[in-house]
Amino acid sequence: TARTEIGGNAEAAWAALREEAMGCTRCHLYKPATQTVFGEGPVDATMMFVGEQPGDQEDLAGHPFVGPAGQVFDRALAAAGITRAETYVTNAVKHFKFEPRGRRRIHAKPDAGEIEACRWWIEQEQMLLRPKVTVALGATAARSLFGKVMTIGRERGRALRLPDGGEAWITVHPSYLLRLPDEAAKGAEYARFVEDLKMAHAATS
Ligand code: URA
Repeated sequence: TARTEIGGNAEAAWAALREEAMGCTRCHLYKPATQTVFGEGPVDATMMFVGEQPGDQEDLAGHPFVGPAGQVFDRALAAAGITRAETYVTNAVKHFKFEPRGRRRIHAKPDAGEIEACRWWIEQEQMLLRPKVTVALGATAARSLFGKVMTIGRERGRALRLPDGGEAWITVHPSYLLRLPDEAAKGAEYARFVEDLKMAHAATS
């Protein structure tokens, strides 16, 4: 059918895009990183989730959100009634940025120039998938998608328009939940995160 043909073409275009991204040298972050961690999920996904950048485990595995933050994210998705098949998961920056400390690699925040250099890939992913809803997980993702600084506290909980016209929602990054020291606050913030995911999900139907 026409639909499978379109699906097939989108699939091939995505594979080509990913292949190209594997050799990306748009910024210097490719040098110390193990590999590009590109987005993953079906090209007909209705929801696109955008994180910050791969972490230590994602850099080694080559897949987004497979480490500790990914586990919180998976749990929250399930709690919100969102299935993996509906989602495409990617990052604003596609190489792991870190500072070596002994044998450990400590996460370092991508700067404005790195986010800007990597925006090209997100734009390609957006054009290819045309998701009904894009969800920015945290400030870096929001900055990349909107092209400007966005305040999560002020923007979360409602539908927003992306510069390309698509619908977006902004919520916290799952690693923020991991960093909260207080168990009660952690529980409350996790519940709020799940609520944000539910609202964004409801906007796809
Ligand atoms: N944090 C992110 O923002 N992205 C990942 O892929 C993993 C952790």
